[in-house]
Amino acid sequence: MTRVGLVTDSSHKLWGGRFSGRTSPIMDAVNRSIGVDFRLWPFDIRLSKAWAVALWSAGVLTLEESKQLERGLDAVARRFADGESPAPSDEDVHTMIDRLLHEEIGDVASRLHTGRSRNDQVATATRMWAMDACQRVDEAIRELQSVMLRRARELQDAMLPAYTHMQRAQPVSAAHWMLSHFWPLDRDRLRLAAAARGASTLPLGSGAVAGCAFPVSRVLLQGSLGFSAISRNSMDAVADRDFIAEVIFSLALLGTHLSRLAEDLILYGSSEFGFVRFGDGFSTGSSMMPQKRNPDALEIARGSASRMLGDLTALLGTLKGLPSGYNKDLQDDKRTLFDAVDSSLLVIPAVAGTLDELAFVDERMRNAVSSTMMATDLADYLVHRGVSFRDAHAAVGQLIRLSEESGTELHALPRTAFRSAHERFGEDVFDALSPRRSIERRDVDGGTSPNSVKAQIELAVQSLVPPTETRGNELNLRAAG
Ligand code: ARG
Repeated sequence: MTRVGLVTDSSHKLWGGRFSGRTSPIMDAVNRSIGVDFRLWPFDIRLSKAWAVALWSAGVLTLEESKQLERGLDAVARRFADGESPAPSDEDVHTMIDRLLHEEIGDVASRLHTGRSRNDQVATATRMWAMDACQRVDEAIRELQSVMLRRARELQDAMLPAYTHMQRAQPVSAAHWMLSHFWPLDRDRLRLAAAARGASTLPLGSGAVAGCAFPVSRVLLQGSLGFSAISRNSMDAVADRDFIAEVIFSLALLGTHLSRLAEDLILYGSSEFGFVRFGDGFSTGSSMMPQKRNPDALEIARGSASRMLGDLTALLGTLKGLPSGYNKDLQDDKRTLFDAVDSSLLVIPAVAGTLDELAFVDERMRNAVSSTMMATDLADYLVHRGVSFRDAHAAVGQLIRLSEESGTELHALPRTAFRSAHERFGEDVFDALSPRRSIERRDVDGGTSPNSVKAQIELAVQSLVPPTETRGNELNLRAAG
């Protein structure tokens, strides 16, 4: 009988000197994270090059050694770019890079890991990845917002019911409805920029937990890697994953916003509403029912939001129970971060594509606006004639009851009915029942009047600028300004 999982292998390990027996393959399997963290390689290479320079300036390496390491890391990067795949023995991306570096430049590769640990290394690489991801998501959001803006421009003359409690409430410009989904995304962009700023604190130089024992210049590292700050406490730095929580929260909320837009469109696309028709590019058919055209992209957007919320819960659940310092539980932080970012980058363009090819059926939207929805306008009419809003509300309530009981729309009720509901109703009352007028009257900032919507579109255009450069070599943030 052999012991469970006991095997012989000679893998490239970053540890192992103190062990005499071999690692169980089961242990290798449970410990391995290369399947997840492989994508950190460009950032790990960059921070490793910066580290080689830092070790030289700290007097640990000769200039020649440092240069050899830099050249070796460039060669390793080229191998990654050419599609190098991990060996089965590579525990994680840091191990793989170390193995390839040895293959490229031999023994001098062993000098690179002086004074650093995978703990400060992975925290640094993940922060760099997160900052880059925030920018990529920002770009995707802006593209979706541009589609929204184009649709809003086209919809300025169309109207549809605005709903509260999913009951017809008041008529609004269809552009106003479209833009009601634009601004949540603008807030998401601000949150993402703030999350990127949160990620922009450099952990490198923290070592395993107590700080680096060689006099490396962390300021130099900060500058060359484009971080806006340096961590103040090494114990905190190796375990701080606040930035991931912030990124995932921003994305979960973004997912929530996309899900609400998707929900609107799915409803509006149903035969019952018929406000929109889905195009061919972003809908699917049924294997059984030939007549079907399904808005799958929107449904996937709606579903993805739940998974992103799950990512946030999983991460916070991991963090809350950890003792101080690095713990291996943290290895899973990247699964949640990558999943939330991947889902966002998949779903945002799919929603944009769906919206881009959507046909709006203006007539169906207009026909859903009934004169009962102008009840508030009717009450306002009385207010303009000196009646208190409370009395006006009661008088219009009477008219609504009458309209319901007689099955007659408000505008079709006889003049006498208005007179008997309130004496101040005059000949011009039917103007108050025009949905167009109802929309025009809401002429405040943020209202649905044509002027307000025009101003809103202008503001939306202005918001669509890329994040502005504030600090760091490559960190572009808009919110800081
Ligand atoms: N793969 C590890 C992670 O993602 C790297 C850090 C390993 N640190 C350690 N002390 N074993 O977290």
